[in-house]
Amino acid sequence: MYFLLKHLHITFVYLSFALLLFRGYRLFLKGGMGGSPWLTRFPLALDAGVLLSGFFLWYVLALPLFDTPWLMAKLAALVAYIGLANLALRFGKDMKIRALAFAGAVLSWLYIAGAATLKSAWAYFL
Ligand code: HEM
Repeated sequence: MYFLLKHLHITFVYLSFALLLFRGYRLFLKGGMGGSPWLTRFPLALDAGVLLSGFFLWYVLALPLFDTPWLMAKLAALVAYIGLANLALRFGKDMKIRALAFAGAVLSWLYIAGAATLKSAWAYFL
């Protein structure tokens, strides 16, 4: 169960990141997201998969949140990631704000993945 969930989580996580980069590419280099509903619904389903498999893993491992700093840091960074990704791809008023938010979303994703892989809230910094 754990093995399956973990690999499912990691698969969702990397697919969702690949799509974030692809949507950024479309928005910034191709000048728009295009009207394809595929490009809004599929990422939403993937992100739901990331969250559900993540919370399931947490449940299966029975990790105590306040004794697991990397998980706490990861969840805090997740809030930033969701806000920044939405600002970049949906609500940002102009391209400058969207570009800054996009860079922040990519950095927060890298931090989350680093904290999870290294099991440390310091991620790559220590
Ligand atoms: C953008 C969102 C997320 C990213 C980028 C992400 C990234 C990752 C990665 C790369 C791993 C594998 C670590 C390894 O190699 O051992 C992992 C594991 C894990 N993630 Fe996530 N994750 C995200 C969201 C979540 C959420 C919402 C939760 C829910 C609490 C969660 C809980 C976990 C747990 C419990 C593990 C397993 C750690 C272990 O096997 O010891 N993740 N995550």
